[in-house]
Amino acid sequence: MRTQVGIVGAGPAGLVLSHLLHLQGIESVVLETRNRDYIENRIRAGVLEQNTVDLLTESGVGDRMKKEGMVHHGIELRFGGQGHRIDLHELTGGRAITVYGQHEVVKDLIHARLDAGGQIIFEAEAVGVEDLESHEPVIRYRKDDEDHELRCDFIAGCDGFYGVCRPSIPEGALTVYERKYPFAWLGILAETPPSSEELIYTYHERGFALHSMRSPELTRLYIQCAPDDDIEDWSDERIWEELHARLATEEGWALTEGPILEEGRGITPMRSFVVEPMQYGRLFLAGDAAHIVTPTGAKGMNLAVADVRILARALTEFYASGQRGFDLLDRYSETCMRRVWLAQRFSWWMTAMLHRFDDDPFQHHLQLAELDYVTSSRSAAKTLAENYVGLPMDLNLGAASAPAESSSV
Ligand code: FAD
Ligand code: DHB
Repeated sequence: MRTQVGIVGAGPAGLVLSHLLHLQGIESVVLETRNRDYIENRIRAGVLEQNTVDLLTESGVGDRMKKEGMVHHGIELRFGGQGHRIDLHELTGGRAITVYGQHEVVKDLIHARLDAGGQIIFEAEAVGVEDLESHEPVIRYRKDDEDHELRCDFIAGCDGFYGVCRPSIPEGALTVYERKYPFAWLGILAETPPSSEELIYTYHERGFALHSMRSPELTRLYIQCAPDDDIEDWSDERIWEELHARLATEEGWALTEGPILEEGRGITPMRSFVVEPMQYGRLFLAGDAAHIVTPTGAKGMNLAVADVRILARALTEFYASGQRGFDLLDRYSETCMRRVWLAQRFSWWMTAMLHRFDDDPFQHHLQLAELDYVTSSRSAAKTLAENYVGLPMDLNLGAASAPAESSSV
């Protein structure tokens, strides 16, 4: 089989890429190791930046998101038994986030691709990518116990952190930057209406807690736990007890309990990870295959979408120029990297501010001071807000420092 762009992985990165390429008349085939039902029900991210919402809307896959997604104009930071609202909308000149499950985005994209006659091959596991330095790289995959190959002009490695594409790049061609953390997140989905209209990020002596949601009937909750905790040791009673303790306020805020659904219950290790460059020959990495951010800034899926927007534009230039234009493709990694590191910075900062690291009282007071500052200084709150809603697409951040020649009096 042959196609123009062979895409490994039907997560947000792979599906958005396939969709954007199709809109430009570029053919792709998506290979996905799981079945359709599995990826359409895999509970993961939930916060879409304005940039992501705009891209999905402008590319024609935003109808259901517009109807069912919940637009939020603020978030709450809670510590010392008190809540403090960060007014995202006012602080960013009218920007917002939309709460809409990643699996819903995946459903909408699969529907759009299949409707348009696109090819997504489910239960097809890529086992290797080869000939990356040639004009015709190949993806080898297994489907129905048989070996197959997909030849293409380019391969997009959108196969997540544990995929096959990144490890296929020869050792020495990539630089890895990594940081591990002494905690993880335990996440649940509960069949109960959210207890607050907005997301609540809580710092507590017992550890971080997050109140989020998926719909007016479904609450999504996370608590900081130990990285080697076994989910079996977390009974429903223990989970609710921790949530009540960490989210409690002096005014007696009430958290509504409900049945915990099996989908969405799990422990996610926390890490920061970047490989550079995000390209080797005709293999381009995008999304979690190239970088992982800590989830506290809600940036992972949004970064995946930002990468493939850049990749789609570069591939469009290549085909529009009669297959001669490599300019944007050559700059792909460099273009992505600036946003990736800005997102790493923000996610690391949110994580450091909101999690319990150890019993060091000095560290604890530093974190309380950081929270005090960010909730009482308008400029600090503005910094949080502009990063949380998503930095502008062109990353023109409003030039904090004037160029030297114009700064002289
Ligand atoms: P993935 O979604 O991982 O997709 C990769 C796909 O490739 C998968 O479908 C996989 O099955 C497939 N695959 C893997 N190997 C192969 C192979 N060999 N052959 C074929 N297919 C293969 N991000 C946010 O922006 N906001 C949030 O609020 C947020 N919250 C999160 C909460 C949790 C608990 C977790 C775990 C993550 C969260 N994230 C969040 C991160 C976000 O979910 C990821 O960054 C996002 O899924 C990345 O998309 P992707 O397409 O790069 O990778
Ligand atoms: C959700 C996940 C996040 O990582 C986050 O920062 C906020 C919300 C969520 O799953 O709803």
